[in-house]
Amino acid sequence: MCSGTIARLDKDESGHPGPTSSVHRLSTYPADLPYSNVRTSSNYRHNLPLQHRKTSMQDMQLIALVVQLIVLCVAVSLYRYWTNPLRKIPAANPLAHFTSLWIYSVRWRAVENATIKRAHEQLGPIVCLGPNEVSVNCVKGGIRDIYTGGFEKSDPDGTFNWYAFFSNYSGVDNMFSTGRNKPHSTRKRMLSNIYSKSVVTASPALLAQVSTIIHHRFLPALASTFTNEEAGILDIYALLSAATMDIVTAYIFGLKSSSNLISSKEQLSWFLDLYNSRRSFNFWPQEFPAFTTFVKRWLGYRLLPKWVDEANGKIEDWTQAMCQSAGAVKAQGVVNVADTPIVYEQLSAALSKHSKNNDGGGIHLNQCVASELLDHLAAGFDTSAITLTYVVHELCRHPKLQQRLQQELRTLSPSMVSASSPSLPDGKSVDALPLLHAIIWETLRLHPAIPGPQPRVSPHKGAALARETTHTMYRAVSE
Ligand code: HEM
Repeated sequence: MCSGTIARLDKDESGHPGPTSSVHRLSTYPADLPYSNVRTSSNYRHNLPLQHRKTSMQDMQLIALVVQLIVLCVAVSLYRYWTNPLRKIPAANPLAHFTSLWIYSVRWRAVENATIKRAHEQLGPIVCLGPNEVSVNCVKGGIRDIYTGGFEKSDPDGTFNWYAFFSNYSGVDNMFSTGRNKPHSTRKRMLSNIYSKSVVTASPALLAQVSTIIHHRFLPALASTFTNEEAGILDIYALLSAATMDIVTAYIFGLKSSSNLISSKEQLSWFLDLYNSRRSFNFWPQEFPAFTTFVKRWLGYRLLPKWVDEANGKIEDWTQAMCQSAGAVKAQGVVNVADTPIVYEQLSAALSKHSKNNDGGGIHLNQCVASELLDHLAAGFDTSAITLTYVVHELCRHPKLQQRLQQELRTLSPSMVSASSPSLPDGKSVDALPLLHAIIWETLRLHPAIPGPQPRVSPHKGAALARETTHTMYRAVSE
């Protein structure tokens, strides 16, 4: 902050008009209006020199105050610089050791990934982004230690929690938005088994759900590419988004209560428009949540357009409706294995048990369930659809690889063609295909679906990363 102020004043002193230009005008006053000219005039003019003297005193005081402020800012910046162990880490920008303004401007301009990648290429695996922030780009002594060690997502009093932005229903937390390790692990324990690879690949409900979606929706939609009005045109991102949303919501809420975006073009474009239109409005609520709320509440100014809140509200209502439907199916007694709401059922039972044992904090159980499941459907559909779209893209660029993959997929039994409806090969045999596995991993490496920082806070006792050792709290960001 301080160096930003200094830079602005320096600019003005070099002649640019700006907020301090009045200071320069006042400082030239004696030359413009010599006292002799004024004193020789009539009575009312006779008072002017006194007024001017008064004004001049005030001007001098103002200038003195500004100079003192500048000196103070420089002193504080230098003190913070010399006492900050992060000064030994190469800076991604000359300002980075002194102020966070540079990295915020990078985030504001949405060029963070490219900028930080360049900094790592030039300066090594650990670079300083701001006085309390570093970026880490190595596995050993880097992301492995950060994400498996004692680095939490928020600081102890919760003043910094970048993930709080992902809460839903006006601040109802879910696993992803929870900052501290303890409550995060409690929530994770309620859910982790149903998302484990062994449970997912052996789940009869998921197999029945995916069979219906693939045979009755996905393959017919693919086949219609050459028979629909725009023959030969396929929006693969939209189709894969629909398929991943239908599969993820089927596993969460059961087939009967899930989305059917593949079959409804209107619903698909309604959802994708709502979901994607909000993407470029994350900066203020995510980086400066308190300031964003303050400006809205006290100054009546929205840094986030109203329609973004409305879009979030519509997605929240949509999720709540799926929760209610799953609850109703459960209450009637599930008749069809595909309609089992696997995640909804387990989460509602676990949260209800947890709130009986603890004070629920006044938050409605239904909203807790909906906030958690909204995060899963968003996290699950978006990442998978982006990754699969890039798989298709890479296969189009590498036709020989595509042929080899087709050969490998033909070894599965039953084959994944309409004729074999309604059966599908089981998850374990699909998971065992080496080329498919390699293609997915390579695609994830080349085109990560969430390419951005997943910030963590360093432990209070300090941390040693790669060769650098720090002893203060800083925000550790890995790319
Ligand atoms: C290609 C597919 C996927 C990718 C690349 C991906 C990536 C990620 C990443 C990078 C995180 C953040 C980790 C962190 O900061 O701790 C995350 C968290 C999460 N993802 Fe995924 N994900 C994918 C698929 C899914 C699916 C299919 C689901 C669920 C249906 C899902 C649910 C979640 C949840 C609930 C979290 C929060 C976990 C926590 O807070 O511990 N993701 N994912």
